[in-house]
Amino acid sequence: MSVADFITLGIESSCDETGIGLYSQKDGLIAHQLFSQVKIHQEYGGVVPELASRDHIQRVLPLIKATLKDGKIKLSDVSAIAYTAGPGLAGALLVGSAVAQSLAWSLKIPALGVHHMEGHLLAPLLEARKPKFPFLALLVSGGHTLLVDVTAIGQYKILGESLDDAVGEAFDKTAKIMGLEYPGGPALAMLAQRGIEGIFEFPKPLTDRPGLDFSFSGLKTFARNTFTQYPMQKADIAKAFEVAATQTLMIKCRRALKQTGYKALVVAGGVSANEALRNTLDTMGIKSSTEVFYPRQDFCTDNGAMIALAGHLRLIKGQTSKSNKIIIKPRWSLEDLQAV
Ligand code: KG4
Ligand code: ZN
Repeated sequence: MSVADFITLGIESSCDETGIGLYSQKDGLIAHQLFSQVKIHQEYGGVVPELASRDHIQRVLPLIKATLKDGKIKLSDVSAIAYTAGPGLAGALLVGSAVAQSLAWSLKIPALGVHHMEGHLLAPLLEARKPKFPFLALLVSGGHTLLVDVTAIGQYKILGESLDDAVGEAFDKTAKIMGLEYPGGPALAMLAQRGIEGIFEFPKPLTDRPGLDFSFSGLKTFARNTFTQYPMQKADIAKAFEVAATQTLMIKCRRALKQTGYKALVVAGGVSANEALRNTLDTMGIKSSTEVFYPRQDFCTDNGAMIALAGHLRLIKGQTSKSNKIIIKPRWSLEDLQAV
């Protein structure tokens, strides 16, 4: 098989979305499909891990079939399979891993476990306007808030991270406190659009001291206390929370850009869908002559396309898992990845 004909099937199942992607060396992203479990977890106000695993089992094979059909690709045309091996929910990861390894074994093709956050980090490479290495990456999701010095694929140095809640988690918890619907992040962002800036002033945690780490749990507590005192002003509270969170992220990005000397910033992960964050970072980018890159809206949150791409870039260089063992890594640092 020549690299030119290489086609990678990607499987994402680390949390509450089943995602499938097909990436070809010749044509780029050929097809992708997503099944979101939002409705399943909505009545519980958060992801129920056991329900997530069970639903991945139901969805993954039909979704692979549908994606192949959509891309007009036969299963026998697939050169290799990439799947999310971690970090994430163990049961959910096991579903993708077991399906990927079994399929690869039966088709006699390689499989490779991909780091979910590397998937997010590389997602902007699926766009026409791509960042060039090196760059600074701000990864903002439900489980992580990371500032990463990216010199090449697989060469990651974590410059800063959250010491407590991830920023997406803080959005979700603050939304829950105010009785908003799950998933809280987008609901809070929508409510904030109706809020007036400046009515409430929230702190910008850890911005008044040196360093690149984050802390978002205090912001959530501040929101809870404000909401208890002013229960009728939800939109203004949502606005104050969003402004404080996005300003905090911007201040740390500006600092990290200064420190690294980089003129390119990649922003990815679920919270990179947030319009206020994009506006704040775009303004900072203009002021500091920094180019800012995002994935398209659909690829900010979890998806199979980013896993197909991240796996593909390694598989075409010959990286594969050594055996068909079903191995998952629910906890896994980006710094432990192999360079390509
Ligand atoms: O990357 P992702 O889909 O899953 C993880 O890897 O965690 O990120 C999900 C997170 C959730 O916390 C969700 O509330 C947040 O991203 N999110 C948003 C928005 N869209 C998704 N937060 C703020 N504003 C949004 N528009
Ligand atoms: Zn994610």
